[in-house]
Amino acid sequence: MSVTPPPPATDGPAGPAGEPIGIAVIGAGYWGPNLVRNFQASTTFRLRRLCDLDVEKAHRVLGGYSTVQVSADLDEVLADPEVQAVAIATPAGTHLPVALAALRAGKHVLVEKPLAATYAEGRQLVEEADRRGLTLMCDHTYCYTPAVLRIRELLHSGELGELHFLDSVRINLGLVQRDIDVVWDLAPHDLSILDFVLPPGVFPVSVAAHGADGIGAGRACVAYLTLRLNTGAIAHIHVNWLSPVKIRTTIFGGSKRTLVWDDLNPSQRLAVYDRGVDVASPEELDDEERRDMLVSYRSGDMVAPALVEREALRTMVDEYGRAITTGTPALTDGRSGLRVLEILQAASRSLAEGGATIQLDEGHKA
Ligand SMILES: NC(=O)c1ccc[n+]([C@@H]2O[C@H](COP(=O)([O-])OP(=O)(O)OC[C@H]3O[C@@H](n4cnc5c(N)ncnc54)[C@H](O)[C@@H]3O)[C@@H](O)[C@H]2O)c1
Repeated sequence: MSVTPPPPATDGPAGPAGEPIGIAVIGAGYWGPNLVRNFQASTTFRLRRLCDLDVEKAHRVLGGYSTVQVSADLDEVLADPEVQAVAIATPAGTHLPVALAALRAGKHVLVEKPLAATYAEGRQLVEEADRRGLTLMCDHTYCYTPAVLRIRELLHSGELGELHFLDSVRINLGLVQRDIDVVWDLAPHDLSILDFVLPPGVFPVSVAAHGADGIGAGRACVAYLTLRLNTGAIAHIHVNWLSPVKIRTTIFGGSKRTLVWDDLNPSQRLAVYDRGVDVASPEELDDEERRDMLVSYRSGDMVAPALVEREALRTMVDEYGRAITTGTPALTDGRSGLRVLEILQAASRSLAEGGATIQLDEGHKA
């Protein structure tokens, strides 16, 4: 079943034009301080409160001279009329209750990835935000990096041509998580990027996942996801906690050009190759040529697009502000979070079923 698009928020709780939006950050653990720093640096927002069950931790994040209020009590934060929006950086299992409470209190909501712990929970959040005309955004941070924004442009403008394949490798000696496997830990990045860069009308239709737990951790520590797109293209994602070598490379193979993104190479993160395979259409060929083959190889230049240096979270915070003030969906809105959750859930099912192909029915309609 699809989720109907949201009505534009006409009378959202954002302050009068020109006034900063009062924001509370919920969660001051590993990631929360990054949100605190970026909201403090933004002129669109004014950080009013920081909420964490551990108030000492929250005080440490803010430092001794801050006027931002600290609280362990979410209800108290949500009752504050000066708080018009929240940003949630608590563990994924708590996203549903915390975000739902915020929406019900009339606050705009930014949730860290993943949007929620399950597709059903994510859906509940999207529906609640729609009903109330509030902004619901998911922080898929990678989407706001200069490299991914550029990749999106290149795919949307048709410069790469039609996408034939995507190959992504995200491997490292990673922290083996206690509650989630490597798919739920790392693949949200690749899946949200895929969702973000694919041109309109192109979307995954199935996923098959294979995994292994070589160290007896009780969950997959290495996994390979294969997605089929509605165009017939294929996307392959390798996520791995056990690789002593760190690789973060994605190849986007297009009918016109191929793009290589090496996130560990700051001097040349992107390289666009005018190389590939050309296929003559059979009508252009006489019988003998057709027999010889339809394929020819092209070897042109490589161009490394220049990228601006800007922190992704800064751009993400700007986008949250834009979505709230204009009442239009954020680039990574709740629906994109939901599409990612659908694939993660289907990948888990596939892992449990020995790599079976699972059809995706819901997400692209959301
Ligand atoms: N965007 C990214 O690249 C990125 C990177 C890392 C983590 N994350 C996401 O950020 C979220 C938090 O991850 P983390 O690594 O910072 O976790 P963490 O465990 O380090 O921190 C979570 C904090 O939330 C607090 N908390 C828990 N329940 C709470 C509640 N009900 N009310 C108030 N505070 C509460 C905890 O006390 C803790 O301080 C997760 O969703 C994670 O996936 C995103």
